[in-house]
Amino acid sequence: RTVYVNGDYVPENEAVISIFDRGFLMADGVYEVTSVLGGKLIDFEGHAARLERSLSELDMPHPCTKDEMLEIHRELVRLNGIEEGLVYLQVTRGSDGDRDFVFPDRETTKPTIVLFTQSKPGLADNPAAKRGTKVISIDDIRWGRRDIKTVQLLYPSMGKMMAKAAGADDAWMIEDGAVTEGTSNNAYIVKDGKIVTRGLSSDILHGITRAAVLRFAREAQMEVEERAFTIEEAKAAEEAFSTSASAFVMPVVEIDGVPLGDGTPGPVARRLREIYLDESL
Ligand code: PDD
Repeated sequence: RTVYVNGDYVPENEAVISIFDRGFLMADGVYEVTSVLGGKLIDFEGHAARLERSLSELDMPHPCTKDEMLEIHRELVRLNGIEEGLVYLQVTRGSDGDRDFVFPDRETTKPTIVLFTQSKPGLADNPAAKRGTKVISIDDIRWGRRDIKTVQLLYPSMGKMMAKAAGADDAWMIEDGAVTEGTSNNAYIVKDGKIVTRGLSSDILHGITRAAVLRFAREAQMEVEERAFTIEEAKAAEEAFSTSASAFVMPVVEIDGVPLGDGTPGPVARRLREIYLDESL
């Protein structure tokens, strides 16, 4: 696989980053995951805009222009022959060659940028989407700026492990009684035929897939309610699903061992997945 690191396209085993990089030492970095379907990047504009915002919220310099970023994405997709899969991009604050809590001088310390691809044949035709996924609920103990897409993913990883140990696929996180989001996706329920999902704030990541799916839902005359919901409400809902760039629209058929409806993917989730894939291809 060819990867990109600070201006160069290199074989993955030749990519080098300083051990003092603040991304490595302090999780001082942000990322984006853009999906590729039919060799085409999905929602690149949205991901580029969110990266811009993550960087500015953390006062981190931008490593390149949006056009350069698009060019790197396209070149890696081409070089690695990606038909279906992902492009992962990460920007960290770099380092001035030592460990210090104080940010290095932004005039003299360049951010680090790396990109790589992941080939995932069958991403669109995922059997999990036909079967539906099971989630468990766990406390949301993450920091309070989840709107910034940082590489601090230890707790979400632990959440996935807790889900796995419980025989489930993912975990939905709960704060003050309400669901925030999944470990790596936004969370939805369907109640009285309406799509319910938490509103945007610093409590959740502003999903690019979320924005697209809600737009498609409204265009298809489906009702959308942006508000917090409890896990009890979710367990009693007609349907549930999640969205992310890496899984699109993913039906949820069981929460904490409680099956939703008849325990199979519901019509709203199936329809939204279909619309999303149709519009993206
Ligand atoms: N995760 N919420 C969280 C906590 C996420 O990590 C993600 C994305 C989302 C969905 O955002 P989007 O629709 O823009 O992908 C919501 C990516 C895919 C990941 O970490 O792999």
